[in-house]
Amino acid sequence: MKFETLAIRTQTERGKENEHSTPIFATSGFVFDSADDMRQIFADEMPGNVYSRYTNPSVREFENKMALLEGGEDAIATATGMAAIFTTFACLLKQGDHLLMSQAVFGSTIKLMENYFQKWGVSYDMINSTDASAWAKAMKDNTKLIYIETPSNPGLQIFDLEAFGKICKQRNVVFVVDNCFATPYLQTPLALGADVSIHSATKYIDGQGRVMGGVIVASKAQTKLFDQFMRNAGPTLSPFNAWVLSKSLETLSIRMDKHCENAHNLAEWLENQEMVKKVNYPFLNSHPDVETAKKQMKLGGGIVTFELKGAIEEGKKFLNALNMLSLSANLGDTRTIVTHPASSTHSKLSADQRNMVGITDSMVRVSVGLEHLDDIKADILQALDSI
Ligand SMILES: Cc1ncc(COP(=O)(O)O)c(C=O)c1O
Repeated sequence: MKFETLAIRTQTERGKENEHSTPIFATSGFVFDSADDMRQIFADEMPGNVYSRYTNPSVREFENKMALLEGGEDAIATATGMAAIFTTFACLLKQGDHLLMSQAVFGSTIKLMENYFQKWGVSYDMINSTDASAWAKAMKDNTKLIYIETPSNPGLQIFDLEAFGKICKQRNVVFVVDNCFATPYLQTPLALGADVSIHSATKYIDGQGRVMGGVIVASKAQTKLFDQFMRNAGPTLSPFNAWVLSKSLETLSIRMDKHCENAHNLAEWLENQEMVKKVNYPFLNSHPDVETAKKQMKLGGGIVTFELKGAIEEGKKFLNALNMLSLSANLGDTRTIVTHPASSTHSKLSADQRNMVGITDSMVRVSVGLEHLDDIKADILQALDSI
């Protein structure tokens, strides 16, 4: 079946009420028909639910859909995107291992290494290049895992998944991709050589800014490890959030088509605005890795960044002048969201550190929503005029 059909027709087996749309299994525990059934289910000799920290039908429906859409053997849902990243690192790394990651990854991912995994004996290096051969050179004998985001947040750097997949296979290194910006509708990292694909489901998978969630898609052997970790450590996705996310997947394809159409048109329009110095969008010919983006992504994604003429002050003035567009830290919502990374999410980094990952002082990130493009442009235009 095709993506759209899998996203809609993968669902929990119909119950006695003959419901059409899957209900929420809002229960922490499950009952057993007999002491013997209970013993067998606990011993994994018989399938069955025990407790929602272990398994829950709403969560399982979401996981099954995500595994099919990403083309993976199985998936494990988590409470947030960060819980998915933490679970992956906790299960695949041990004391003495080395991790290589892109400098252009979500800030909290860097903090996980800096504040926790490092003190537990896992070393790491960050690379500021999208060139796979530079990464191959930086690999050490104890490098166990490579971690990238493509497109990256917020610099929209593009990494060639096939090239990275090849170097990881050659060196027997686990290749983990944060696929949050692309979603499985635009890009399937596992088909291109990645071993693990991770999402903050909080973003486009929910798509309406309502719930937090995360998911890890990988082989059966790896998801078994993640499942054990979830059972013991407990960063479990709630049944309600899983139900919301599973429902949202039914419309992911049409939402992403529209996010991408609006974003691509907005990027082209921004290129002609007087107060705009530079526009960054993976499918613009001016993007340094446009060919790689077009090779591995169906469309260019819903995020556009641009640089204003000016610096931090101009960025703040622009944000203050917006009327309709939201100032919010989230992305992937139906509502267009604007952030100014230099004065907010990345203000703790030095200007040099920010520049290294493509965040200039006047850079603005737009998570282009599903409102009418004319209304999005009108708000941006009046804010540009007011700088
Ligand atoms: C690329 C990326 N990965 C991971 C995360 C973390 O996800 P969550 O906020 O759901 O924990 C984010 C959040 O913004 C993100 O943008």
